[in-house]
Amino acid sequence: MNGINLGTFPIDTNSLWASVSNREAKELIAKEIVSRAKDGQVIGFGSGTTSMVCALEFGRKVKEGLSISAVVTSFELEWLCIKLGIDVLDLESTEIDWCFDGADEVDPQNNLLKGRGGAMHRERQVFTKAKQRLIVADNSKDVSVLGEKFPAPIEIKPENAIESITELQQFGFDSVGIRTGQGKDGPVITESGNIIADVIFREGFNADVAEKIIEIPGVFDTGLFVGYEFERLS
Ligand code: A5P
Repeated sequence: MNGINLGTFPIDTNSLWASVSNREAKELIAKEIVSRAKDGQVIGFGSGTTSMVCALEFGRKVKEGLSISAVVTSFELEWLCIKLGIDVLDLESTEIDWCFDGADEVDPQNNLLKGRGGAMHRERQVFTKAKQRLIVADNSKDVSVLGEKFPAPIEIKPENAIESITELQQFGFDSVGIRTGQGKDGPVITESGNIIADVIFREGFNADVAEKIIEIPGVFDTGLFVGYEFERLS
């Protein structure tokens, strides 16, 4: 992968890796992000291909002597960090100096749609806890309303699936469908043990709709990140 020998990495990332868009631009931004790191800092690592590119660059610098710790947002980033020799800390037991992440969509008010990779809950925890935040999103991620290009992922506790989905269906969205896996029948299960409903709403998810969705019993989190401050790199 990208010139770095990861040995027997526990998951096959080739297809994910092959799907990295604008890879050279992301590698340049990764260098910029890593250049901001100082010894002793705790850094939140997002998920998705942009974050993987950044993790690889951190791996290189750690091998050269940079001494940072990571708080991660998904299994694959945790495994990648371990393989790269980056120290991984528990979210609960540490402060986070700053974090970086990608996004699927950015609206004109700088609200974000995230969660194509299903990692939005841990991403929100890290994003919320970090003292400063970087989002890597080129202008292909710009939309006029959230939900223009991607469905919004809604993470739901499995025990509440039927009533939560029924309630979502009554909102008048264009479609509500449970995300299913490959190599397993039934739903994709998140790092938090939940399922994901992907909701299409071409009219757009504004702050009001985002708030109504999170109030539905059984809804654990969503990929709608509304009202956060961050620096955008593109
Ligand atoms: C992971 O669940 C997502 O929130 C990603 O951060 C988001 O989908 C961006 O992914 P890419 O960096 O692959 O575009």
